[in-house]
Amino acid sequence: MPASVRRRSLAAFATSLFALTVTGVAYAGNAGFLPSEAHSPNAHRIDDAFIFVAIFTGLIFLGVEGVLILFIIKYRRGKRPRTAEGPQIHGATRLEIIWTVIPVLILAAIGTFIFWELPGIADAPKAAAADETTVNIEGHQFYWLFRYPNGAISIDRMVAPANDVVHENVIGMPFDVNHSWWVPDFGGKMDAIPGRVNHTWFKAPAGDYVARCAELCGIQHAHMDGVVHVVPRAQYETFVQARAADPTATGLGKEEWTGVCEKCHRLDHVYIGPALGGNPLLANRDGIETLLRNGQGNMPAVGRNWTDAQIDALISYTKQFAKTGAS
Ligand code: CUA
Repeated sequence: MPASVRRRSLAAFATSLFALTVTGVAYAGNAGFLPSEAHSPNAHRIDDAFIFVAIFTGLIFLGVEGVLILFIIKYRRGKRPRTAEGPQIHGATRLEIIWTVIPVLILAAIGTFIFWELPGIADAPKAAAADETTVNIEGHQFYWLFRYPNGAISIDRMVAPANDVVHENVIGMPFDVNHSWWVPDFGGKMDAIPGRVNHTWFKAPAGDYVARCAELCGIQHAHMDGVVHVVPRAQYETFVQARAADPTATGLGKEEWTGVCEKCHRLDHVYIGPALGGNPLLANRDGIETLLRNGQGNMPAVGRNWTDAQIDALISYTKQFAKTGAS
């Protein structure tokens, strides 16, 4: 095979391989051009900023790559000898001014736009007190705990009223590690840093929105996810009142079992921690309270700040596993 043919077939092979790799990435379930579908004013503002910057970077990319390809073809060596020198050019004042001024203008435009957008992301719009709700969100290894204004509690599933401003106090437990509260459809992430309270907010139509922990927080970080269940305000009120009145009857125990215990334990086999099926501790309120509040060995104190009602709810659910061990 002549060298030129071999070179060409090698180039064709490399190009096809590159194209196939890129196609794979394009199909790898990514959500498209934008970060994710925006469902809250914050997310819309972040999308606006993303698009605004993308227009400039897109034009620059096309301009630079276009000229690069054009020059590669136009000024290729062709039949000139390998040692021939190109024309020696020194100084092009007008060109130099242009390529300095244009980037300055672009950066000024982007900077102005971003600083104009930012305050709207940090500050919630003014609303009547009746249209606002504040939920405290605690990050724990490896679950999210939500405390509502009337004392109701839920785990890994936040219920919120639709189309109203919902303030979120993202709280890092002093005895825990860093986590980061992230609902992609609502916009940015908010860190839960031990000993600190960070504030963010959203206003979303009814629907279920995926929540993630976005900070590597330990062995089960990947399973520290949840859902924000946005429902009409009447339904939200009904939920928090019922949950506050009787956590056990409204399923808090099961939420704790799946959200907290099952992150690391299974009934019938060793997982991150030992198998729990048949363990008499699951029916021993004092024993389980000591374990949850203090932790043991590799197990963090997952229930250090739990209320008595939370422990009651858990034990009422787990006692069924103390004897049988069946799931
Ligand atoms: Cu919590 Cu990662």
